Amino acid sequence: MQSPTTITSVGELRALTENWRRNGQRIGLVPTMGALHAGHLSLVALARNRVDRVVVSIFVNPFQFAPHEDFERYPRNIEEDYTRLASAGGTDIVFAPPLGELYPHGFATRIEVAGPARGLEAEFRPHFFSGVATIVAKLLIAATPDIAVFGEKDYQQLLVVRRLALDLGLATEILSAPIVRESDGLALSSRNAYFGTNERRIAGQLNRVLGQVATEIQSGVSIAEGERSGQAALLEAGFDTVDYVAIRDAATLSQLDGPIGNMRVLAAATIGGTRLIDNMPV
Ligand code: PAJ
Repeated sequence: MQSPTTITSVGELRALTENWRRNGQRIGLVPTMGALHAGHLSLVALARNRVDRVVVSIFVNPFQFAPHEDFERYPRNIEEDYTRLASAGGTDIVFAPPLGELYPHGFATRIEVAGPARGLEAEFRPHFFSGVATIVAKLLIAATPDIAVFGEKDYQQLLVVRRLALDLGLATEILSAPIVRESDGLALSSRNAYFGTNERRIAGQLNRVLGQVATEIQSGVSIAEGERSGQAALLEAGFDTVDYVAIRDAATLSQLDGPIGNMRVLAAATIGGTRLIDNMPV
């Protein structure tokens, strides 16, 4: 199996992708912040099935972290990431630029998305989607891929990226991949590494409670009651704080008057200082 090549400059990335495109090859991009797990690898596999060349970017983007968040302690292990990608196969290029390569001195441009970027995560992480939109736009411009793959794990982020690509008229098709979970339902996340044993046990309850809320809504419980009971069940399960349990329109994330159409239940809750998000269709 061929090992991926690591590159660190936008210039090199452009030269490679331009060359592939000239040779009629289709390109896929999988943006990540590293600390790769099976969830990330599922995105690579999906991309690999669709295109000839796959680029995985690894970059812990400072602009999507608030000053009090975990940018400094976010898990970084580029060598392990590389080994994982190499043994999974399917990755041609690992794009792992240093900070200054993406944010040159004096960097002063920001992309703001409204629509799906309003509420939910944005209420608790006001700078998050602007940070994500800016870096994703930069990566899409640098690599100009035919497709880019994002996980449903970060469902609001996925909708924000779709909106961004549509609004900026980018030629990249945005694809989504289902959530990869542990056996107890906990969605794989680089931040799961922060948990101690007891916290880890409680963390597994998030998915169970979301399933419970989805079932309640299907059996006729109101949106408000479903959200309230989900919140109560998470606190009962041992979460320290619950930022939200929300049942929203699955396509726009707008609030619903009643339980109709395609719905999604989304939640964010904190345990032992680690914030978890999860979601599922209703
Ligand atoms: P990161 O958290 O590393 O996630 C990279 C991609 O992997 C995202 O599209 C995310 O939704 C997906 N992913 C994470 N866990 C998953 C799981 N359990 N199942 C399926 N997919 C999963 O999301 C980011 O990085 C950043 O915000 C980024 C888009 C790279 C911009 O900096």
